[in-house]
Amino acid sequence: MRTFWQRTPMANSENEKPLSSFSEADLHRLQQETLVQQVEFHHSLDSTNDRALQLATEVSKNLPLLVLAEAQTAGRGRGTNRWWTAGGALTFSLLIEAEAAQLPPTHWPLMSLTAGLAICEVCQNLLPKADVRLKWPNDVFVNNRKVSGILIEAPPTKQAKLVIGIGINVNNSLADAPPEVAETATSLCDVAHRQFSLPEVLLATLTQLEKRFAWLGLRDAELCDLWQKRCLLTGRQVKIEIATNSVVGTCQGIDSTGALVVKTDKGTQRCLSGTVTLL
Ligand code: BTN
Repeated sequence: MRTFWQRTPMANSENEKPLSSFSEADLHRLQQETLVQQVEFHHSLDSTNDRALQLATEVSKNLPLLVLAEAQTAGRGRGTNRWWTAGGALTFSLLIEAEAAQLPPTHWPLMSLTAGLAICEVCQNLLPKADVRLKWPNDVFVNNRKVSGILIEAPPTKQAKLVIGIGINVNNSLADAPPEVAETATSLCDVAHRQFSLPEVLLATLTQLEKRFAWLGLRDAELCDLWQKRCLLTGRQVKIEIATNSVVGTCQGIDSTGALVVKTDKGTQRCLSGTVTLL
């Protein structure tokens, strides 16, 4: 097991060690207590997904590899969206070798929902009184505001690899966010009015991801039941945009294939992908 230290300068004086939410012991714990075999830690990076995609072409041993950054200057979301990453946020990407991780391509369509479910469960544990929901296909909402997003990408490598990028607003108060983000998002600290240990939230997230991914292909009906119970959109009027088409109707939930089921004027439609707007 190896840890790469990418310590970019953030110290408050030349002789001081960089300030960080993660100690060396925390990074070693990640390798000892979770599926992670290597950690690459950065104080600041453009995007952990971009770095993991680059590493996918260079590294084929000791996976899963965790790319962890305390700040991102160009965090990416789905499509052309950007991901706002302020200090105190948890942002990381996990580079995995899909077959070795028992995640063959047949499971890939369900991975975002399954990761979202795992993050919901971690957030619910930390915020027992909050309303924690899964917004199909890959967001987590707390009290009707987005707290986490997931971006899974497949690098063009011979060996099937995946980059699972996750951003969770933990100790980054939305009071400091740009207005367009502050309008619709929240963070764990804004809901709980206290700070959380980033290493503990990361450990819990990696543990829960491993647990729920292990259910794929074996316990899909139970997974479906869990994401149905968490579905933010059920019973609500939605518009799903898929390329140049759109589907408008009442959401009936998520089926066992991971599709969003929408009752429209023309009958029931299953949406396998798309961007959802709540009407
Ligand atoms: C979305 O909401 O559309 C997905 C957001 C995913 C953000 C995470 S933060 C860590 C990783 N690195 C990125 O550049 N994006 C993902």
